[in-house]
Amino acid sequence: MYRGIIFDLDGVICFTDRYHYQAWKKLTDRLGIYFDETINDRLRGVSRMESLEIILERSEVQYSDEEKVAFAEEKNETYKQLLTQMSEKDLSDEVRDTLQELRNRGYKLAIGSSSKNTKMILGRIGLADFFDAISDGTNITKSKPDPEVFLKAAEFIGEKPENCLVVEDAEAGIEAAYRGGFDSAGIGEAAKHAHVTYPIQTFSELLSQTICKRVF
Ligand code: G6P
Ligand code: MG
Repeated sequence: MYRGIIFDLDGVICFTDRYHYQAWKKLTDRLGIYFDETINDRLRGVSRMESLEIILERSEVQYSDEEKVAFAEEKNETYKQLLTQMSEKDLSDEVRDTLQELRNRGYKLAIGSSSKNTKMILGRIGLADFFDAISDGTNITKSKPDPEVFLKAAEFIGEKPENCLVVEDAEAGIEAAYRGGFDSAGIGEAAKHAHVTYPIQTFSELLSQTICKRVF
């Protein structure tokens, strides 16, 4: 029986993929580097700087560390501008109602995301004050598949990994959960990962009695 649930943000609670794609595309077009949706899929759950390294695999030019930091900042400025389009409408009824029911069932609810924009995104979709704890890109030194972000989330809600379930859409996230000693529920591509505990098709499946029955 779990006591806490740790949710990835992008691709689980809301969908920012297209904004990441547009922001990286603007940068790669400027630099003349090939970039497409398939490469963008490889960036799920991966930190901003590691995402840039994946993107630069296609570059014929070697860039300095200073240039790379500047590129990541440039991408993030575009991304933040795109995020201003997000609003409470970007939180689906299914996600909102499922989160509320999980809270009613007695679970502690936390976020475990690699994104440094987590708080801004939660604010835009109306969940700024909803979660019991937020572990994100601002409090970690290693990104998924390292388990640090989830271990911190578990610590913030005062629960051991074995008492928490991680909900993820990225393979790197399922791997991180596994390495940290967490069970996981995987949506989308993550449902196919060898180490996923519960493959699910929809967010509301978390309410199934085999996954998250009432805590008390
Ligand atoms: C999430 C997304 C990744 C993104 C990472 C860092 O994990 O799935 O695609 O690269 O956050 O996001 P940030 O907002 O800090 O650039
Ligand atoms: Mg994700």
